[in-house]
Amino acid sequence: MYTRREGIKEGGDAATCGLIKLPAYCLSILLQTEPNQEKTRSSIMVWPFSSPERTSVSEDELLDLRGKVAIVTGGNSGIGYATVRVLARRGAKVYLAARSEERARAALAQLADEQRNAPGSTVPYGEVEWLKLDLSDIRQTKAAAEEVIRKEKRLDILVNNAAIGNVPYTYTADGLLEIMVVNHISPFLFTLTLLPLLQQTATSDPAADVRIVNLSSDAHTFAPHVSTFIGDEALNKHYEDTWLGHFRTYGYTKLANILFTSELARRLSSSSSSPNSSNITTLSVHPGNVSTPGSQQVTNTVPYLGWLTTRLSAWMSTTPKEGAYTSLFAAAHPEVKQNREKYNGVYLVPVGKVGKISENAQDERLARELWETTERKMKELGAL
Ligand SMILES: NC(=O)c1ccc[n+]([C@@H]2O[C@H](COP(=O)([O-])OP(=O)(O)OC[C@H]3O[C@@H](n4cnc5c(N)ncnc54)[C@H](OP(=O)(O)O)[C@@H]3O)[C@@H](O)[C@H]2O)c1
Repeated sequence: MYTRREGIKEGGDAATCGLIKLPAYCLSILLQTEPNQEKTRSSIMVWPFSSPERTSVSEDELLDLRGKVAIVTGGNSGIGYATVRVLARRGAKVYLAARSEERARAALAQLADEQRNAPGSTVPYGEVEWLKLDLSDIRQTKAAAEEVIRKEKRLDILVNNAAIGNVPYTYTADGLLEIMVVNHISPFLFTLTLLPLLQQTATSDPAADVRIVNLSSDAHTFAPHVSTFIGDEALNKHYEDTWLGHFRTYGYTKLANILFTSELARRLSSSSSSPNSSNITTLSVHPGNVSTPGSQQVTNTVPYLGWLTTRLSAWMSTTPKEGAYTSLFAAAHPEVKQNREKYNGVYLVPVGKVGKISENAQDERLARELWETTERKMKELGAL
């Protein structure tokens, strides 16, 4: 079990995982992310030995993003929407990547409306454009990335935010488990297809500061112990027949997000693969317990108690605006560039702190296996 401040210890076998970890998780949320989280956290300080913990990320702290280009997947809703909004307010051109035109247009209208009524930003508001992206379809995902490459000369920030929680288990036309496709495989493909543009941006300017941010979750600790990611079956693994199986499967995909992030950081840092990629910083993020349609979908899956956990979780959650703080820190805070050694490849928790991860998530062999299996599958299907 884990507590958010003390970090995570691997929590036993599959049978005990749900029974022990879920109450512990709920308790940790109760104790540590109350609705007045901002006020309580600001008092956590052991002066003069340490500085106060960061409790928010204000727009003005972030870099001036004029002339920069960003993509936020799942930008029409929840944490993604809040991330798009602030990146645009810092002057970036932002692609709001979303699968539904109707929901994307509604989000664009809401952004324009909020912009009209919000206090002025210190820089001119950046353009926000819809990018059609359906992560459940690897070919459409590839096409979306190629559209950006055709349209843009640079890409400074990629936030892989979109995900699904509990879905009935369905398989894509390629025979892959949809939740793994949406949460890991397509973000992998999207990122790798965009990588030449990200690298070009990183190398074209010595002062470049390119960031790749992958939304993960503390729920990665709910994944049962994984011994290997070799083989197609690793991509289609689910725990449907076990206690809290949907939640564990979601955790498995979120474990994949952390492993992908650390492996990408290692590969980009190795001089042989990309000589000038030290201007690219890759991070994974746990946004906290945030009240969004997605979080409600996950808490609803708790057998018999779904209604209770959903209400409790909503009561204990932060707003999407607060939930975007750590994504924004990772994507556009100057401290990340100044301390790149500290931040590259790591997992951040609210607000902008390096968090602890499960043993599986630290395993470089698993990260390499996951990369190779996903890459091989994408090549086999003609997507890479
Ligand atoms: N909320 C939390 O407490 C929490 C905690 C830990 C981690 N996270 C992570 O934070 C991220 C954002 O979560 P959220 O709570 O803001 O979720 P959300 O409100 O449900 O938003 C998810 C977004 O992903 C999009 N999406 C879903 N399937 C897609 C697909 N096939 N193709 C393209 N886009 C798709 C959704 O689009 P539609 O509107 O069309 O469905 C929506 O825009 C996720 O990665 C999640 O795992 C959240």
